[in-house]
Amino acid sequence: MTIQANNNLGVKIAGCGFFVPERKLNNLDLEKMVDTSDEWILQRTGIKERYLAAEGVGSSDLAVHSSLQAIKSAGIRNEDVDLIIVATVTPDYPVPSCANLLQDKIGATRAGAFDLNAGCSGFAYGLMTGSQFIINGSYKNVLVVGVDLLSRITDFTDRNTCVLLGDGAGSVILQRDEGESGPLAFTLGSDGGKYDNIIVPAGGSLHPASITSLENKSHYVRMDGRAVFEFAVNKTAKVIQEVLQQAAIDIEHIDYFLLHQANLRILEGVSRKLKIPWSKILVNIDRYGNTSAASLPILLTEAVNEGKIKKGQLLLFAGFGAGLSWGVTIWRW
Ligand code: ACO
Repeated sequence: MTIQANNNLGVKIAGCGFFVPERKLNNLDLEKMVDTSDEWILQRTGIKERYLAAEGVGSSDLAVHSSLQAIKSAGIRNEDVDLIIVATVTPDYPVPSCANLLQDKIGATRAGAFDLNAGCSGFAYGLMTGSQFIINGSYKNVLVVGVDLLSRITDFTDRNTCVLLGDGAGSVILQRDEGESGPLAFTLGSDGGKYDNIIVPAGGSLHPASITSLENKSHYVRMDGRAVFEFAVNKTAKVIQEVLQQAAIDIEHIDYFLLHQANLRILEGVSRKLKIPWSKILVNIDRYGNTSAASLPILLTEAVNEGKIKKGQLLLFAGFGAGLSWGVTIWRW
């Protein structure tokens, strides 16, 4: 359902940060691992390289780096954080949450903490969830993180998936704003009937980890690439129009579109369908691949660091992915 946001109190992104691990894997490296080519990957996805976390590193470790940057740029202390929401499908452990580990590692001693699983839409869901605590006046500083180590659930012998994915983390601090910043309208959506379009079949309560699940490689992510592609272009375009209508904003008044970076051709498809000038679509998929929940906060932080985003501008965030799920919001900066 698309709703108009209730902005009794404004909410601003007071700080942001991102982090990717050191090891870079380019398309030529992948040529040595599976039957693929630099040319195929570039043409079909727009991806040139991605980063992979070293052994012994968990999602919370990446999230520490991006979160400390966000806290610093917001000008607060670690202990000022009231709530931590971590959007991830790759927590360090199934139990406890990645957010609990992050809370301890950064010394956010006063904060509550929980994880949120909404696939590649995770950050959009987290942004809207965290905003509610600010808008209703409960909390002053909410840390929202999108982090995924997709390499941990990727079968590096499966060319259908392994060329697409990368590891990364991005964080924002949400605070009250006396001005007009914050969401103008948003949608959080789900089409659970298509749950198996992107799925890790084993390791959950239905099919716990077993010798068979290991042998079948069903602890790795599987995906119907064409179905997801079609969904991503059509649903994203449709929902963007709905949210614009709800906010009573013409598409040409949006300054930048921050769309989940899954495939360059998906971004081109949405741009074509909605006649969005390419210069307004932020792109970094060539350098990071699909980093799932980390994709949008990495994109945002780069744009902020480059000085692209200015006070009062209108941004449109759109996440889509496993679930199937989607989350779109128009945000006044
Ligand atoms: N290298 C070379 N050839 C390949 C590769 C590869 N890495 N992968 C697939 N191919 C082959 C296929 O086998 C197929 O061969 P065939 O015609 O002989 O059967 C051919 O290339 C074309 O395959 P398509 O699936 O039609 O290729 P398409 O143009 O649709 O691109 C892709 C595939 C890149 C996966 C695209 O469909 C896509 O990006 N889908 C969305 C993926 C996505 O966003 N997933 C969500 C993220 S995953 C997550 O959330 C964890």
